[in-house]
Amino acid sequence: MAQRITVIGTGYVGLVSAVGLADFGNYVTGVDIDTAKVERLSAGDTVIFEHGLAEYQRRNLDAGRLRFTTDIRGAINRSDIVFIAVGTPDREDGSADLSFLERALEDIAAGADGFTVVVTKSTVPVGTNRWIGEELRRRRPEAELSVVSNPEFLREGRAIHDFFHPDRLVIGYETERPEGARARERMEDVYRALYLIETPMVWCNLETAELIKYASNAFLATKITFINQMANLAEACGADIHAVAKTMGMDGRISSKFLHPGPGYGGSCFPKDTKAIANTGSRHGVTMSVIEEVIAANEQQKARIADKVERLTGGVSGKNVAVLGLAFKSETDDVRESPAITVVERLLSWGARVSVHDPQALANFRGIFEDRVSYHESEFAAIEGADCLVILTEWNEYRNLDLARARELMAGDALVDGRNALDPEQAREVGFRYIGVGR
Ligand code: UDX
Repeated sequence: MAQRITVIGTGYVGLVSAVGLADFGNYVTGVDIDTAKVERLSAGDTVIFEHGLAEYQRRNLDAGRLRFTTDIRGAINRSDIVFIAVGTPDREDGSADLSFLERALEDIAAGADGFTVVVTKSTVPVGTNRWIGEELRRRRPEAELSVVSNPEFLREGRAIHDFFHPDRLVIGYETERPEGARARERMEDVYRALYLIETPMVWCNLETAELIKYASNAFLATKITFINQMANLAEACGADIHAVAKTMGMDGRISSKFLHPGPGYGGSCFPKDTKAIANTGSRHGVTMSVIEEVIAANEQQKARIADKVERLTGGVSGKNVAVLGLAFKSETDDVRESPAITVVERLLSWGARVSVHDPQALANFRGIFEDRVSYHESEFAAIEGADCLVILTEWNEYRNLDLARARELMAGDALVDGRNALDPEQAREVGFRYIGVGR
């Protein structure tokens, strides 16, 4: 049976979830406090750069299964299920800031009518869902409700694909309470479309679901950090990290994914989630030394790129550096925790003049660096007159960069390829002094 759903928060996860849940045949209302955003979304406009999202959004708006509003309590009042997808930014000490979540709970406690399932999509510290249940029952003792933890694993740039083709669905529920079984039935209805295509469904308690999410992201961050350190070693001893990684990946126990060396991981999840799980460990008095080391090593990896520029240019002070790629990875305009921020910050502090290009992320980068660097709509405009060229995001247009033209436009011959996006032989043929990562 189609469910009436409210999704609180129309950020990345909230918007993709609202659109996806509507496409499964549910009646979905996306709510946000931002009036202008709600108007744009209702008109079918896009607010984030994400493949396929606009098409699904319009299709479900037209079908009458999707709408957006600022009337949070009204929407909750008419819903069988409320998904919480508000932001949980990290505080200075790595712990999560739950103030948006608390506000959502206030609205749920005030608006819920009849048996309501409260589903957390936001990534929240282990133990939070249990606390959500206690909080809601304290605020509204007579309310009939049950709490579910349904973490999201979608990747930016591939979020729509990931929503419709997840490797698994994780649904933590209140296994020890009678309402838990009722909540589970509703969740089965919500995701019937995925159940029919035999997506593995993992049913577990709340804490297990929460920890699955953190453990998965922390493991991937560890895998990347591992290959980054191996790449640094390969560089020092003359091995080719790509051959090493590819061959390691042939072992089914290891798998070839997430073994691409680079300038360190960034984005809205890995940096935040690794810090949060380390913080959870220390709260429980459990050593999380592997994760702590990953966090520190990733910072060093970002800094290493700037060190390479410094070395290759014989001191970057007073020189021009062109940075191509500002987003934390390709196919997104997101610069949160992007290695480009650390690298450019260091280069500037050493007295370099920096010009930048990115096919999508210029505006977001400008929000951070303002007039401290120069921004260019074309990569060649950024490259012109540079002493050193640095690649930090693996956009396809950089992989196919006209290296001969780049070399001609530049004043110098230094090239630091932070993503191993280019062919070192080709770069050397046209006269570059090339350094990649681990080769
Ligand atoms: C990630 C998780 O993949 C997703 O499941 C979770 O829900 C949110 O966090 P995302 O942040 O969108 O998704 O990006 P992802 O593609 O996983 O890449 C994360 C970072 O690792 C990027 O900076 C990327 O460039 C880097 N990376 C990834 C590497 O450096 N090497 C790799 O082999 C893979």
